Order: sequence, then structure tokens, then C-alpha cells
Amino acid sequence: MEERVITNYKLEEDTFELTIRPDSLDEYIGQTDAKGNLKVFIEATKIREEPLDHVLLYGPPGLGKTTLAHIIANEMESNIKTASGPTIEKSGDLAAILSSLEPGDVLFIDEIHRMPRYIEEILYPAMEDYSLDIIVGSDGNSRNLKIDLPPFTLIGATTRAGDLSSPLRNRFGIVLKLNYYNEKELTDIIKRTSRVLQIPIDNEAAIELAKRSRGTPRIANRLFKRVSDFALVMGNGHIDLDITKMALQRLKVDALGLDETDHELLTTIIGKFNGGPVGLEAIASSIGEEATTIEDVYEPYLLQIGFMKRTSRGRIATEKAYQHLKIEHQDKLV
Ligand SMILES: Nc1ncnc2c1ncn2[C@@H]1O[C@H](COP(=O)(O)OP(=O)(O)OP(=O)(O)O)[C@@H](O)[C@H]1O
Ligand SMILES: [Mg+2]
Repeated sequence: MEERVITNYKLEEDTFELTIRPDSLDEYIGQTDAKGNLKVFIEATKIREEPLDHVLLYGPPGLGKTTLAHIIANEMESNIKTASGPTIEKSGDLAAILSSLEPGDVLFIDEIHRMPRYIEEILYPAMEDYSLDIIVGSDGNSRNLKIDLPPFTLIGATTRAGDLSSPLRNRFGIVLKLNYYNEKELTDIIKRTSRVLQIPIDNEAAIELAKRSRGTPRIANRLFKRVSDFALVMGNGHIDLDITKMALQRLKVDALGLDETDHELLTTIIGKFNGGPVGLEAIASSIGEEATTIEDVYEPYLLQIGFMKRTSRGRIATEKAYQHLKIEHQDKLV
């Protein structure tokens, strides 16, 4: 599949993310509610000299969950150990990670919803009582072993809070939902990236990029990087509005950050299915994409900007989508 510049999933080219990642709450732009609450909780735990309660971060890819997990550890002045749901394959893997923790450590488990349930269960006593219950030995010779763990903070991140089992979810004292960023916040993020990478950008150009970033810092930064390539090769390295518009046209990203696949998706619903309602599977096979890709990558943003609606009978394209695509209305109004 062709690599899409607007996907909110992490791409190979995004390795530069590490260099532009903010490392304190004050530098972390937007998510005002989550940030405000975190500040209070962190302050309180410092006064009480206790570790922070376990934190669950959820929201679409690229909104800053991993970044925030590292920031929390920084603000707590704690060490962070990281793991990822899919790579914890055996209960021994998780037991090894847990028993390596030191007092006050932060354990960050990314994609925590992808841990198998029988492994997940090891986390329950660890989170609740800082204790690790494992079975050692085999066959007739096995016995339960209970190991005390030091106080620690688990930070879990997931793009799908709904996929998390409720016993696990209930053990997080702090649950923070990350939301899409507004234009002002994205503009600030782009300007910050420009400062960090020392690639100058005009105000209008930053705003233009923000408008096309689908509410997602990862996309904002990626577009910034791509546009800066155009500015370097075709201009003097300085990013202005003209270069930005030209580059985005070449990248086939429209004024709202929609790309060809978004267009195809909407015109399919409108043209082939008379505006809907139409099932996800039917759309998927029509445009040759996986249903899950549509659900995770395209749909959230189209729903967010009100171009699409989900109904019990399927997806529908809204009036706004017709207008944006300049398609005349037949008889359907949503
Ligand atoms: N609030 C923010 N302020 C400034 N930059 C941000 C912010 N949130 C995210 N970023 C930038 O966006 C990039 C992507 O963020 P991050 O990797 O934390 O997303 P994520 O939610 O963990 O994504 P995934 O679900 O794919 O793991 C980071 O490199 C960071 O530079
Ligand atoms: Mg992440």
C-alpha cells in the first residue's frame, strides 16, 4: 500500500519525533483538562511522598500518549521502564519486568489492550497491592510464590479504551482521554517544532499547516517536515505560505487535511451508495481498504469534522461532505 502522509499511525520517517518531543508539562501544548488534573495529582503525591496512582491514557494515535507518559515520569523525577502489549508474550516476560522495578519507578505499557488476558491478570495484584503472585515449578511440583514489589506507577496507553477488560480498566486511579487538538494548539505545536529544529516558518504558513493536520500533532510535525523539504530545495529554506500551499498540493492534502483516500471514501458513499447508510464492510471492499483501517484512520476524523455519521444502519455522508466535495445533492438530506 502506498504510504500516506496523513495517516496518524507512526511511520518510518517519524523517527525525528524523538528530538522534538516536549519533556515537561509546561511544554506540552493543549489537552488542558488532562494537564491541569495531572499537575494537581503529581503535586499531591509529592506532598504525600507516595507514588502517583496508576494512569490510563487513551485516544487516537499520534495525540501524544507516549509523550505524556515520559513527561509524567520526568515530572515525578522517576525512572521510566517501557514495554509494549504485543511484545509481552509470556507471563514470565511481565513478571521479569515487574520484578526489575525500583521504588517510585514508572512502568509504561504501550498498547496495553493487546496483552493476553491471562498475562493481564498478573497486573491485578501488582497494581493493587504491589505484589507479584507467580507459580514456580511444574507438574506435581509447582507452588505459588508471592513476591513484594516496590511501590510503582503503571501508565497504560491504548488507542481503544473499549478493548480493555473492565477489571484492568478499573484498577487505574487516573483515566485521561486525549482529544483532537484545535487549530491554535496545532499552530503552537508547529511553531515549537520550528524553533526546536531551527527551521523558520511564517505565522500564516503555520496556521495553514495546522488546518490540514487532522487535529493530530504527529501529522502536523510530519507535514512540517515534508514542507520544509520543499522549502529547502525550491526556496531558501524558510517556510512561507506559498511554499506551504504548493507543497501540500503536491502531497495531495486538501484544505481540510483530507487526502485522496478520504475523497474516495466519501465519493463512494455518495456515488455508489446514494449517500448511505452503508455498512463498513461494503465501503471497505469498494475502495479496497481494510475495514479496520477505515475505522481507525479515516473515519475518526471524518466523524469529528461532521462529514460522516455512524447510524445503526451504517455510515452516511452529511451535507457538509457534499459541499466540501462540491457534489450536487440528489434527494437525500442528512
Ligand atoms: N501536546 C503536545 N505538544 C507538543 N508536541 C506534541 C504533543 N503531543 C504530541 N506531540 C508530538 O507528536 C508526536 C507524536 O506523539 P506520541 O508519539 O506521544 O503519540 P501517541 O499518542 O503515543 O501515538 P501512538 O498511539 O501512535 O503511540 C511526538 O513526537 C510529539 O513531538
Ligand atoms: Mg505512542
